[in-house]
Amino acid sequence: MTTCYINGKYKPLSKSFISITDRGFQFSDGVYEVIAIYNDKFVDEILHLNRLKTSLKKLQIKLDLSINQIQNISQKIKKVNSISNGIIYIQVTRGNQSPRDHKYKAKLKPNFIIYSIKKNFKNLDKLAIKGVKTSLYPDIRWLRSDIKSISLLGNVMAANHANKNNCHESILYDHKNNITEGNSSSIWIIKKGVCYTHPITYRILRGCTRNKLISILKSNNLKFEEKVYSIKLLNNADEVFMTSATNFIMPIIKVDNHKIGNGKPGPISLKLRQEFIKAI
Ligand code: PDD
Repeated sequence: MTTCYINGKYKPLSKSFISITDRGFQFSDGVYEVIAIYNDKFVDEILHLNRLKTSLKKLQIKLDLSINQIQNISQKIKKVNSISNGIIYIQVTRGNQSPRDHKYKAKLKPNFIIYSIKKNFKNLDKLAIKGVKTSLYPDIRWLRSDIKSISLLGNVMAANHANKNNCHESILYDHKNNITEGNSSSIWIIKKGVCYTHPITYRILRGCTRNKLISILKSNNLKFEEKVYSIKLLNNADEVFMTSATNFIMPIIKVDNHKIGNGKPGPISLKLRQEFIKAI
């Protein structure tokens, strides 16, 4: 049995319910976070909780819980569910409102949930040694992808396109054929020893793994630039990899039918994965 935290109470996940008047259910009016737990350690927890606060602020959702309180609840969920390796899922919606109205009332009480899912990161290590295949998909999402909103239909369609094509992730491209990010990851290319990723704009999520990797790149004296790059540059990269809370750093060996480099995970990508795991 998995225990979840729901609006102030710890309850069995299978017996936890939110009203159908919830604005998250009716309008996707809410935000979320996914935090990894690796060998009993929360990975980049403060980065994720700060981003949760930022997303809430951008949508003017007022949550009455401090970062410290959320950390304590997460810690308890980890303990009662005996999670040594897995993820913590946090979701906040604006609250219940009836009758249905696009305009939100000023003083709604947010619905707040946290639960955990077990995950075997050893399988991911095996996958990283082989590298993963990806597919290209148009970035059909709204123009505020900087907010970690629960409105994920564009991401869901992209992820299912990848799955249907036996791929691990879809790489999204915009109307100018430039890469934005993955369906649930940040995408990076390496060319002549320099790492490139999309700059921080409204079109992408500021990845916490991305943030952490930037500090690893700096401390390893690796060259790094935030730059918009095209599908053509992606295909011609020496190495490509993705970063996210659930994949850490994952080498990409194929984009649709196009092999990246020699079709094997690149040495820099693999080294960065090791460095990332070492730094947890
Ligand atoms: N997704 N971009 C998008 C669209 C994402 O959904 C994610 C993460 C990232 C990477 O962010 P981070 O490094 O902070 O995990 C980038 C999570 C894992 C998810 O939705 O499950």
